[in-house]
Amino acid sequence: MREISRVGVLGCGQMGSGIAQAAATAGYPTAVRDVEAGFLAKGERAIQQSLDKLVEKGKLEAGARDGALGRLSFTVHLQDLAGCDLIIEAVTESLDLKNELWRALDGLCPPRAIFASNTSSLSIGAMAAATGRADRFVGLHFFNPVPLMPLVEVVRAVGTSPETFEIAMAFARRLGKEPIAAQDRSGFVVNRLLVPYLLDAARARESGVASTADIDRGMQLGCGHPMGPLALLDFIGLDTVVRIAEIMFQEFREARLAPPPLLRRMVTAGLHGRKSGRGFYDYSTNPPTPVDLGL
Ligand code: 3HC
Repeated sequence: MREISRVGVLGCGQMGSGIAQAAATAGYPTAVRDVEAGFLAKGERAIQQSLDKLVEKGKLEAGARDGALGRLSFTVHLQDLAGCDLIIEAVTESLDLKNELWRALDGLCPPRAIFASNTSSLSIGAMAAATGRADRFVGLHFFNPVPLMPLVEVVRAVGTSPETFEIAMAFARRLGKEPIAAQDRSGFVVNRLLVPYLLDAARARESGVASTADIDRGMQLGCGHPMGPLALLDFIGLDTVVRIAEIMFQEFREARLAPPPLLRRMVTAGLHGRKSGRGFYDYSTNPPTPVDLGL
């Protein structure tokens, strides 16, 4: 089976920077592309902080951190990814935006290059169809925070070749992750189960079943979850979850996948969760305190 020699990552947000960190730590020269230098600088800082934390905790040697940092490069130019033989896309969940990038890269990258999307809910097949390499197109869905979460869903679309699928599985293992195979259905395995649960937690809050803190404590103490669902919504980003839910709703037309009004209102009000400083919790205090949502 063919080895990957150079990785390109599209998008330097939470997921893109985490994926780039994992690839560089595993020994791959990794080029990260985003549209603004400011986004790249923010992602680079997050990678440095995460690697420092892993060294501090004794989970990574200082030399390995320095090696990973040395293998990373950051660029605003798409053509700087032309020499990569695996491109992993982690930009906003918009099929139009993603396909615009895939079409451009299809012309820039060599035929052997494999394209992979980290989409959590869009169709891998719908992206593959925008390129001339549907057999070399696969889903690689990582979980947040990427440096700590061991799972990668490897998604095989209708046209994905068995060889591409095996290369993607081997790549995930080389990153130290445990891959599972999933079919190209919106949400794959994890989000298909997780998203309805998160939406139900917001509905429970909206209908006054319990307070924010008690809903979260309920699932932490009663089910052993590391985070309650409302804290997890804040962690993933309410805007991101609303977008994923909308896409899943379009695919399955199930009422349980429709984002509840409370989530929409919070997003409209700028309460996007941790990244905006406020969501179900206010992150300006330590520990974070539940926000009064006027319910
Ligand atoms: N890099 C390196 N180390 C990190 C880190 C990072 N990015 N983030 C946290 N850490 C370290 C901390 O320093 C800490 O180290 P210590 O235990 O040695 O002190 C350790 O990880 C634990 O961190 P915290 O004490 O801050 O908090 P927790 O104990 O709650 O752990 C967590 C954090 C790992 C995020 C845990 O709460 C968790 O597993 N939460 C659930 C996350 C989850 O469900 N993710 C999936 C989201 S869904 C998704 O991504 C799919 C997408 O499509 C939506």
